[in-house]
Amino acid sequence: MINLKASLSILLLTLLTVGVSTADSNIGPLFGYTGGNNGPEKWGNLNPSYSTCKTGKNQSPVDIVKSQVARSRTFKSLTRIYNPCNATLINNGFNVGIHVESDAGVMVVDGKNYTLEQMHWHSPSEHRLNGVQYPMELHLVHKAGDGSTSVVGILYQYGSPDPFLAKIKDELEELAKETCAENEEAHIGLGTMDLKLLQKQTRKFFRYVGSFTTPPCSEPVVWNVLARVRNVAKDQVEALKAPLSAEYKNNSRPLQPLNGRRVELYAEVD
Ligand SMILES: *[C@@H]1O[C@H](CO)[C@@H](O)[C@H](O)[C@H]1NC(C)=O
Ligand SMILES: *[C@@H]1O[C@H](CO)[C@@H](O)[C@H](O)[C@H]1NC(C)=O
Ligand SMILES: *[C@@H]1O[C@H](CO)[C@@H](O)[C@H](O)[C@H]1NC(C)=O
Repeated sequence: MINLKASLSILLLTLLTVGVSTADSNIGPLFGYTGGNNGPEKWGNLNPSYSTCKTGKNQSPVDIVKSQVARSRTFKSLTRIYNPCNATLINNGFNVGIHVESDAGVMVVDGKNYTLEQMHWHSPSEHRLNGVQYPMELHLVHKAGDGSTSVVGILYQYGSPDPFLAKIKDELEELAKETCAENEEAHIGLGTMDLKLLQKQTRKFFRYVGSFTTPPCSEPVVWNVLARVRNVAKDQVEALKAPLSAEYKNNSRPLQPLNGRRVELYAEVD
């Protein structure tokens, strides 16, 4: 999750200031997942604007240990009212996602409206439940009028096909055929998307305050990780990885320490 325009200009600025020649190399995004010079342990050193990745005390993802979560006394529902909206499928180099172009609707958290801005997939999952890492995680990124961010994380295990990914199968194949020249994003129009499949009633979820899981790792982000793990077919996960280069096919940030943070469980009934 990152503002791409900002990150590209930061990238350019960095290249100018350190004088790296880009003439003959296809530079990837600055950060990577495979270790080496730009792996997750080094993100905070890659750019001054990424320093929170190293110094932040409220970083994501985390392992959600069910025996240690605090059950909230009051149930606050996670209301999401999504609209059909125009959307674009995007490969930004480090993940595949969907940006919404028109009013996609809101999530209401503690009486505050957060508008859905974009969603993207990570594989394998970033959050874990009781130490279990799942094959895939979807992040639905919402922003409120005051700039604050709240993300819904949905975990997927291998099983029957995910109906939402089934709808964009052809476009994902098309995206995989596009070669991104010069580190540009690849875009495929999706027309009008019905997001209802993503807004199923949420009776149980975990909430904690964390960060973006990609540089600049900004805090705070109000995380809502749904307790119910959904199903995805293996070939759907492969289709999401296909457009990405080898370094980004596995794009899951390692677990971050809780540093005393509390994860709260919101459950309607038990
Ligand atoms: C989607 O875009 C088309 C073409 O630009 C436009 O006619 C249509 O009204 C848009 N739909 C929504 C829901 O914004
Ligand atoms: C929040 O969103 C809901 C659903 O769209 C809407 O009815 C309500 O008026 C919004 N509230 C504010 C303060 O914008
Ligand atoms: C991604 O992770 C899986 C499971 O750990 C591993 O089998 C695979 O080789 C990795 N792929 C890449 C491109 O690193």
